Amino acid sequence: MTPTVTLNDGTALPVIGLGTVQSEGEDMAATVTAALSSGYRLIDTALRYETEPGVGRAVAASSVPREDILITTKIPGRLHGYDEAKESARTSLDNLGVDYIDLLLIHWPLPKVDNYIDTWRAMIDLQKEGVVRSIGVSNFTAAHLDRLVSETSVVPSVNQIELHPYFPQADLRAYHAEHGIVTESWSPLGRGSELLTAPPVAEAAAAHGVSEGQVVLRWHIQLGAVPLPKSSNPDRQKQNLDIFGFELTDDEMVAISGLERGRIWGQDPDVYEEF
Ligand code: A2P
Repeated sequence: MTPTVTLNDGTALPVIGLGTVQSEGEDMAATVTAALSSGYRLIDTALRYETEPGVGRAVAASSVPREDILITTKIPGRLHGYDEAKESARTSLDNLGVDYIDLLLIHWPLPKVDNYIDTWRAMIDLQKEGVVRSIGVSNFTAAHLDRLVSETSVVPSVNQIELHPYFPQADLRAYHAEHGIVTESWSPLGRGSELLTAPPVAEAAAAHGVSEGQVVLRWHIQLGAVPLPKSSNPDRQKQNLDIFGFELTDDEMVAISGLERGRIWGQDPDVYEEF
């Protein structure tokens, strides 16, 4: 069983989950079916990824009980606003074929559109109605989080951000820790890039007799972040869950964090307005 972290609403969230941005030609239902049988219990999708139907088919067909699986989905920027957010959640429920969502996130803040507060108020109501168990955000900066909390007094349970050794986001993680917000990492493996052959990663992998991917995921766990790696390959899916039998040393953690370069794959949340 994967260890869990307790969210600010009492929910036990597995400390690692499966990302479901679709690769070309990928059969998402098959990917999620394999992941559930390997032991994944946290599945991260989004309305915008268009993978909700595949995730829902796999969950429905699985012998794993629905209540043992946590499904995260997200409200796209084009559906910000109170009524729109409620419509977004209803569409996600239909797409997934479920009667509740475990964790609903605001996908991007779109601060120039300026209604993530209304979106958040709808999510607070959806949580009260029991349609959504936990609510959180994604790609928010500390300033966006400050505004959300000062205007609604409801602290998000998680903030899912671009996080990997090239972009360790130490300041934002410290803010999360101070406010009891769990950090989730998207593109935690640096999208399978040359990050996985970087010397501090390769050296730690050799020292512990594990793969480079396992080292990078272990780095997230030791930072206290919840990585959401993608893999359509059942062997790599299993490998990515098998990261609780070794520990990186402080020196290894520092060396891996030293790969920092800044934001790589994400947009600046203050200016990103697409979708
Ligand atoms: P594949 O689906 O063939 O396993 P990220 O989660 O950072 O976006 O990275 C996903 C990419 O990393 C995918 O291309 C995936 O390919 C690859 N990947 C996933 N797990 C591993 C691993 N343990 N080692 C190497 N590459 C991996």
